[in-house]
Amino acid sequence: MDNSWYKEMAVYQIWCRSFKDGNGDGIGDLYGVLEKLDYIKSIGVDAIWFSPIYPSPLADYGYDISDYKDIAEEYGGLETFKKVLDEAHKRGLKVIMDLVVNHTSDEHEWFKESKKGKDNPYHDYYFWRKGRGKNGKKPPNNWLSTFEGGAWEYVPELDEYYLHVFAKKQPDLNMDNPKVREEVKSIMKFWLDMGVDGFREDVITFISKKEGLPNGFPLPIATGIEHYKKGPHVHEYLKEFRHDVIDKYDCFVVGESPMSNTKDCLEFTAGDDPELDMMIGFDHMQADCFVTDTIAMPFNLRKLKKAFSRWQKDLYGKSWNALYIENHDHPRIISRYGNEKFRRESGTMLAAACYMQSGTPFIYQGQEIGMLNNHLDDLSKFKDVVTFNNEKIFKKLGVKGQKYLDIANKTSRENARTPVQWDSSEYAGFSTVEPWFGVNPNYKEINVENEEKNPDSILNFYRKLLKVRKENKIIIYGDYKEHFADSDVIYCYERNYEGKRALVVCSFTDETFTFHAPDTFDLTKGKVILCNYENPESRPTVCALRPYEARVYLYE
Ligand code: GLC
Ligand code: CA
Repeated sequence: MDNSWYKEMAVYQIWCRSFKDGNGDGIGDLYGVLEKLDYIKSIGVDAIWFSPIYPSPLADYGYDISDYKDIAEEYGGLETFKKVLDEAHKRGLKVIMDLVVNHTSDEHEWFKESKKGKDNPYHDYYFWRKGRGKNGKKPPNNWLSTFEGGAWEYVPELDEYYLHVFAKKQPDLNMDNPKVREEVKSIMKFWLDMGVDGFREDVITFISKKEGLPNGFPLPIATGIEHYKKGPHVHEYLKEFRHDVIDKYDCFVVGESPMSNTKDCLEFTAGDDPELDMMIGFDHMQADCFVTDTIAMPFNLRKLKKAFSRWQKDLYGKSWNALYIENHDHPRIISRYGNEKFRRESGTMLAAACYMQSGTPFIYQGQEIGMLNNHLDDLSKFKDVVTFNNEKIFKKLGVKGQKYLDIANKTSRENARTPVQWDSSEYAGFSTVEPWFGVNPNYKEINVENEEKNPDSILNFYRKLLKVRKENKIIIYGDYKEHFADSDVIYCYERNYEGKRALVVCSFTDETFTFHAPDTFDLTKGKVILCNYENPESRPTVCALRPYEARVYLYE
């Protein structure tokens, strides 16, 4: 099946709980999505990716699923979802679901059964092991979870531990068990038969664990990760899913893969028999931190450019990039790589910097209106297991109280989970009652209604940008060559396709900057097809870039 249509689309990500409350209980839902489908379409995207909306105890806000073949009642249930699917399709919007099969919720039927006894047919759906040491009081190995202390939880009734590489309420599935793989394929078929168009596969490269579960290299978190970050059977299992299910439908799959480099990515996405169509990598999300968002560092443009350029160059002609700068797992991009005081300018520039590259754009709810990080005044107002786990880790290092609060405000992924700001009315038009999670107090100024009114808004820039991509195949398919890689101010790259050329120039400073064009470009001969300011003037070899200006010149 030729599914290459995914290369020409743009995807809008919905994290439902905070998107729009349609029935007045303070919780975002699919009724709200129905109300806003025309808005989504108006941005110029072609597909929606739903972060998990299945029944879930919400230990990890839906990434802990208790029933894979249903939709949570509070979001409107399966009937409302079918309506959304139908209405989206009518508008030419595809729909992709989040497939979270590295782990289930501990409230999933399989886990409840598996806990009943060693002879239960579901016992081997998970990793149950005896403890080590005298009296078996030590966990089976030294692994630590990413979200919550040790990676093993003791269950006294069984006198065994189960493995969870994320939170305690997210036991890992044993993918080595063929029955588990049959379940995964059955889940995929269930949604594809209903008409969904693909999957975003959650931490999918973690699904195979090294035989014997050996001790890992000691780290402050995620000890053991080298034994499952690209486990021994991951390719085999993903090929099985691909051949038995995905290949039979007109659909696509994008896999999330923490800690993967481009070489890893190509193993999954290149060649005649790729397992994934695209990969969500993390390299470019680490330009202001060390490994994880939580270990903040000053923003480093060169680091960002290196990551972007590596993925563009290494994948070109071999596989396909997923382009993103925001999702539900990271703080807001303007607050990170841009400048809140130049919200419009830096928000639009960052969009151009990322989405003028080759790949499929993914845009996260609220990003298109330039939503910013939140500033909560008390830790009790946070909601996420990760925030609280980090609190414990930082405490051990002597960082607590206000100091940790500052870190959480700056680095927590909850920054991306505040309700979408629709207008300046109470609760930002998200709901008629107090929402489940506090609205960012800046909603009176930053909201969809204001962005709609202003022709130069971030929202209208996103619309232009997506149109430019559609109208210029060079932006989608052209090759990529970076200029001035050493600059700490400018991100500049060239694209080439079928005899045409394009030059993308982005300024990362809040001052005016005199830009000297690469030798091979005469700036007066190119047509500016995208710019976040009025009247971009050029001389043949130089132009004055205004704060955070972005320009795209096309040479036909
Ligand atoms: C992925 C999800 C994240 C979740 C984690 C565990 O990284 O994007 O939100 O917490 O997996 O499922
Ligand atoms: Ca609701």
